[in-house]
Amino acid sequence: MDREEAKIRIEELREAIRDNSRRYYVDNAPVISDYDFDHLMYELEDLEKAFPDLVTPDSPTQRVGSDLETQGAGVNAETGVRREFAHYPHRFPMLSLGNTYSIEEVEAFAQRADKALETSFTYCCELKFDGTAICLEYRGGRLYRALTRGDGVVGDDVTDNVRRISNIPQQLHGDYPAEFEIRGEILMPYEAFDRLNRERAAQEEAPFANPRNAASGSLKLLDPEEVAHRGLWCTLYHIPAESLSFETHDQALRAAESWGLPVSDKRRICRDIDEIEAYIKEWDTARKALPYATDGIVIKINESAFQRTLGFTAKSPRWAVAYKFKAEQALTRVLSIDYQVGRTGAVTPVANLEPVLLSGTVVKRATLNNADQMALLDIRVGDSVYVEKGGEIIPKITSVELSRRPEGAARPEFPALCPDCGTPLVREEDEAKWFCPNTDGCPTQIQGRILHFVSRKAMNILAGEATVEQLYNLGLVRTPADLYDLTKGRLLMLEGWKDRSAERFLESLHASRSVPFERVLFALGIRYVGESTAREIARHFGGIDAVAAASKEELLAVQDVGEVIAQSVKDFFADQRHVIEIERLKAAGLKMSLEEKEEGKGSDVLAGMTIVVSGNFSISRDEMKALIERHGGRNSGSVSGKTSFLLAGEKPGPEKVRKCAVLGVKVMGEAEFLSMLPDADTAAEKAPWADGELTLFG
Ligand code: IVH
Repeated sequence: MDREEAKIRIEELREAIRDNSRRYYVDNAPVISDYDFDHLMYELEDLEKAFPDLVTPDSPTQRVGSDLETQGAGVNAETGVRREFAHYPHRFPMLSLGNTYSIEEVEAFAQRADKALETSFTYCCELKFDGTAICLEYRGGRLYRALTRGDGVVGDDVTDNVRRISNIPQQLHGDYPAEFEIRGEILMPYEAFDRLNRERAAQEEAPFANPRNAASGSLKLLDPEEVAHRGLWCTLYHIPAESLSFETHDQALRAAESWGLPVSDKRRICRDIDEIEAYIKEWDTARKALPYATDGIVIKINESAFQRTLGFTAKSPRWAVAYKFKAEQALTRVLSIDYQVGRTGAVTPVANLEPVLLSGTVVKRATLNNADQMALLDIRVGDSVYVEKGGEIIPKITSVELSRRPEGAARPEFPALCPDCGTPLVREEDEAKWFCPNTDGCPTQIQGRILHFVSRKAMNILAGEATVEQLYNLGLVRTPADLYDLTKGRLLMLEGWKDRSAERFLESLHASRSVPFERVLFALGIRYVGESTAREIARHFGGIDAVAAASKEELLAVQDVGEVIAQSVKDFFADQRHVIEIERLKAAGLKMSLEEKEEGKGSDVLAGMTIVVSGNFSISRDEMKALIERHGGRNSGSVSGKTSFLLAGEKPGPEKVRKCAVLGVKVMGEAEFLSMLPDADTAAEKAPWADGELTLFG
């Protein structure tokens, strides 16, 4: 590869890594497997090694992946992850680990250590817990603060949530030091994970892809009481040497254990590579019986003095390495291929498989995504295929074992007609998927739209898939507005429905008339308009008539709305059927505009303060600035030593947050800020930034 080609590929890789990193760390919804992600990173590392002048400080090879809610897509609509957390700089950077899938590279790590240290030393081998990293700070034996890794420099303050994790002590015992930090992992054991996903399925919420995402999403929930019910669990594995010094890592963990902290007993001191390999081999099998997820082994130099000699790179310690287990694969056979129609009319091919056991669950189906993916795999009915659980909960087929292809296996034809209603499918330019254009006649699409309308995040009406199907089959409901014409008498036509179930349904229908406009807008199911985009649009225009009348340019002025969404909104309101439906919903009494909010009285609680506002809030940024002024504060556009605090909403400018970390300026979330104002119910006695608790980095 020449330099020019390398330059292009490096940019591609960086883009792909950043995108997938955001999906993994921020959205908790990865779309590729860890293995594929790691290999993108390896390819980038190799290219940067070959062309060192192309290395830039912002390359993902030079930085730790970030879980900060502020950088990237913000809240994941499906997971209900909290938006606003205060950010605090880490006292000592929270680094990542170099990782590998090859034993040879572990051997090379051991050889490098031998060469550099030139004396005998030991390794501490541990499980690599597959959760989300946490940093706990104890002061005077009490849990003082808990921060997520964030971007390694600044973390999200999740203390309130961490206090609800049962095996994390609030108070230490024994001979604990006055102040120290300890780091580890928050995990969701399989049992709690399965229970949570069952509950989510019952509520028609998207399931978490794996326990890691569930742990990370749960740690960032809005309501600490809800965190308490998630069954999270913690294991601690690292006391930064800058925080407390011990002769060995093992001694540090023993001490932590003696103070009542949860430390894993699965670690082992190894003297050489053979003992390390034996540990790896043993746990590659034994880990399958553990009640929580692990994704590898961490090998650390045990002696603190030798750790100091080896030091750190920009991203990770030179005294440790992670050996990662490959995702489990299973070989099975394709029995048939189904084509499923979704609410938007998109048709997804799904392979039905001979049932096979994979990572503790029986796999019977795997998505094939779209026609291109099918062609790429060259998959045929009867083929033996490898399935793997990647980032997504639905297993994917990674490859076809061509040597086992039965004779005469024919290439499957993607259907030309909708498998549900028989309408010819269409595929628009730039779309990977085929669509059924029979929006109003295709039963799956009709039911899908009603299901979306009644779902918890939309109108929250008590109706699941079976009810909607019955209502459809009986000809009672074709569009959401039909729901509001239902009477008790008609509902009693549904199989198994009694007075009580009909009454409960009607009560929930009635309650849906109070659902705020932003959720009504989301419930309409405008293509590409998710929960947060609906909120932005609702707040920008205030009511449905203004949204319907908006020009494309006006729509583009809304935060998060680009060409595709603007066009989709225009198309939606240009359709007379939608206009009629909205009129019927209006007549049914649904909220079609934002409620007028009473403006609070002013105060001088912010007098003398200079505040920088960044990111998105539950009110517009202008309203937030007006609020600051009403309470005596001054707005400023940039962070400096004079800034009192940064008021950070969703997605604040990363540079502003970083600058705060460097200058020791407090970063405050919306909830905390609002609680400071006298209008708010929870008005605090004094402002937290006035209590001299600013944390300085380093
Ligand atoms: S030590 C300075 N030990 O894996 C290095 N990390 O991929 C401190 N992890 O960021 C980390 N199990 O979140 C360490 N036994 C273990 C671990 C472990 C899981 C996580 C941790 C780290 C990530 C790197």
